[in-house]
Amino acid sequence: MSKELKVLIGKEKIERRVKELAGEIKSSFPPPFTVISLLKGAFVFTSDLVRNLEGVEVDFMRLKSYRGKRRGETAITLEPELPVAGRKILLVDDIFDTGESLEFAVRWLRERGAEEVRTCVLLDKEVEKGTSLKPDFVGFKVPDYFVVGYGLDLDEKFRELPYVAYLKE
Ligand code: IMP
Ligand code: MG
Repeated sequence: MSKELKVLIGKEKIERRVKELAGEIKSSFPPPFTVISLLKGAFVFTSDLVRNLEGVEVDFMRLKSYRGKRRGETAITLEPELPVAGRKILLVDDIFDTGESLEFAVRWLRERGAEEVRTCVLLDKEVEKGTSLKPDFVGFKVPDYFVVGYGLDLDEKFRELPYVAYLKE
C-alpha cells in the first residue's frame, strides 16, 4: 500500500514559531550557554534555532535506543566534544515521544557535572510518557502520528523536507 504525505505544520508556521521560541528561551534562560543538539533528528531545528540566538556554543551528541517489549535501553554513540562539567546547557531534540531519550541525555549531562540543563523540543507528541520529565521549551504539540520532515525521518528518508508531515495510508 502506498503512503501519502500530508503536511501537518507548514514551513512558514515553523519559521514563526522557531523565532518565538528563541525569544522565550532568551527571556527565561539567557545565553551564554551551550546548545547540545541530538543527532540526527534535531539538526535542522537546531540550525534554525541557533540563528535566532546570540552568544551560544553548539555541540552534538547521539543516542541509540533499543526498544524491546520492556522499557527501552538507551546508549550514547557520540559524546559531546566540549567538556560538559560546569557548563550551562540547552539540550535540543526533534520530538518528545515517550521521553526516554531526553531523560537519558539529561541524566547523562548532569552526571558529568553540567551546571544547568534545560531542554527544548520542536514537537511534543500527545502520548503516554515513560518519564516525569517535561521539556522546558516546546514548539508544537502534535497528535500521536508518525511524523517526518524538518530533520525527522522514516528509515532515513524525508529529513530534508522544509515542513513537518505525517504519513497517511
Ligand atoms: P522518545 O525517547 O520515545 O521520546 O523518542 C524520541 C526519539 O524517537 C526522537 O528523537 C526521534 O528520533 C524518534 N521519534 C519518535 N517519534 C517519532 C516520529 O513520529 N517520527 C520520527 N521520529 C520519531
Ligand atoms: Mg531523534
